Order: sequence, then C-alpha cells, then structure tokens
Amino acid sequence: MTAIYANSRVDEASRRAFLYEGQLFVLPPCPSSLALCEFARGLIQEAFGTTDPREAQRRIAVEEYAAILADLKPRFIHHPQSKAYLRGILSQHGCDLSKTYFDVPRLRSSTSDGYLTTGIAYAWHPHRDTWFSAPQCQLNWWMPVYDMLENDGLAFHPEYWSEPVANDSHIYNYYQWNKVHRSAAAQQLKQDTRPLPRPVQPVRIEPQIRPVCPAGSIVLFSAGQLHSTVPNTSGRTRFSIDFRTVDIDDVASKRGAPNLDAACTGTSLRDFISATDFSRISDEIVSLYNDGTESAGDLIYEPNRSEGHASPIPVWKRID
Ligand SMILES: [Fe+2]
Repeated sequence: MTAIYANSRVDEASRRAFLYEGQLFVLPPCPSSLALCEFARGLIQEAFGTTDPREAQRRIAVEEYAAILADLKPRFIHHPQSKAYLRGILSQHGCDLSKTYFDVPRLRSSTSDGYLTTGIAYAWHPHRDTWFSAPQCQLNWWMPVYDMLENDGLAFHPEYWSEPVANDSHIYNYYQWNKVHRSAAAQQLKQDTRPLPRPVQPVRIEPQIRPVCPAGSIVLFSAGQLHSTVPNTSGRTRFSIDFRTVDIDDVASKRGAPNLDAACTGTSLRDFISATDFSRISDEIVSLYNDGTESAGDLIYEPNRSEGHASPIPVWKRID
C-alpha cells in the first residue's frame, strides 16, 4: 500500500518515518519555494533570451540547446541564493535546521517528444537513488518550476517498494563516478554511454503513481523509491528542481528505508551541508559509511568474469 499525504499536517519526525515506510508526500507551495521557482525562471529565461524556454526545443538545434543547458545548470546549482532558498523551504516545511543537511539543488529539464533525453537532460529509467550511493535515510525533494502536467513529470513504481529489482548497481562507485563521468554529461547528445546503474530484469511500469502539482509544490519521497522520468509528450519542456536531505540523527543511527537491492559502493554523504551553517557532516559520522573504496579516486573498476556469474562481479583495484 502506498499512501500519498497531500498538504499533511503531520510533524516532521512522523513524516520521515512514513517516508521510510514508502509513503509519498506532496507539500504545498510555500513562500521560499515560490521564490526559488521565480528565481529559477529568471535564470532560465535569461539563458534562452527572448524564446519561451518551454518552447525553445522547437527552434534551436539540439547541440545548441545542450550547450545552453550546460551553461545554465551549473550556474543555478552554485548560485549562492539557491542555498538560502533551500534553507527557507526546509524551515517552512517543518524541518529542524540544526539536524538537517542538504545537497545542492539541481535544475532538471525534460524535453518533449524525445528531443534530448541523454546527458545534460537525461530521461531517467526506473531506478532507486540508493543504487547511486545515496544513504538509506536520504529524502528527495522534487519541485516543478512551472505548473506540471500528468505527462511531463516523474512516476513511482510502488510495487517495488517491498520487492527487490535485479540491477547492476555494483558497477557504481560514487568516488569514481565523480572523478571520471560526472563532467561528461553535456557530451552525451544521442546516447548516454556513462555506466549508470539500471534494472537487469523487466520492470512492471504499471501500476504507477504520477503526482501532478503546481509550481512550487514539492513531491517528497525516500531515495529507496523506484521512480522514473515520465516520457514527456506534453509538447513543451518541463523544468524542475530537486535536492536531497538527510537528518543527521538518522545518518548516525543508520535509520532509513530498507535496502532491498542496492550494491553500489561509496557514499554521497560528503556532499551534504548543514542547513544552519553550511558545514559538512563530520568525518566521524561519514566514516560509519566507509566500505574500503574511500580512496577510489585512485581505484579502477575491473569486471571480473572469471567466476562464471551471469553478471560480472566488480573488483576495485588500487592503482599504486
Ligand atoms: Fe532519482
């Protein structure tokens, strides 16, 4: 059973507990989320000049479009104002700022009719964020920048909350990804050749849940949810913002959603900053998540096919 709590008044600790059990929340727009949307719309419009950003895909060659996004997205991510808006959103939605850590907000785009679905505008196949080294207590905050439709957002596949999905997340090491592949997004125009974990079994896409909400609303869900990008058939590009949070007590006690099938290595916890003073999570706490690949910037991935397994067992070898 998956419940959707819309405009719920439950307190934040209960909300987290429900999210770790697989429930979904849709939070109403708040002053800071609306301000962040307006700020993002300003940057987006500036990047596309006089063209309506949602219509620009009809008028611009895909290479030029990808180049605009490649410039726009990092500017949004690293803009100092973005962090301030996030703090406001977290506070207005009941989070204890002294215990909440967040990562940088990302600006996403989903073009219509398959115009650009790779690299800088990747259309996500069904996945759990926990296949990408997210901690089990991570919560995802997803917000449309313009009012959204049923055919341009994201979908959840709730049957898999309690059912493992065979996947190749063992190929993914967070440190190696950052070192080698992250910066290559803008070059992936036709096909995405980066090693992104994906299901290695057929996934039942139905039943699925598609939240539909106005700009500034937030879809809040556990990183353990299987979710995907809805193929955009709206005729216009969707822009959205997402960021992730963790509660430091849950990080320290390793509380969170159950891990059914993630086999990736490394942790994204070093990316999170305090909502009060923007400091990082202490080494002492992060070290609870060490798995021996912490220096994987110096490691190489070698598929090991010698043991007769259907899918290769990864071996991380240190380069001396
Ligand atoms: Fe995701």
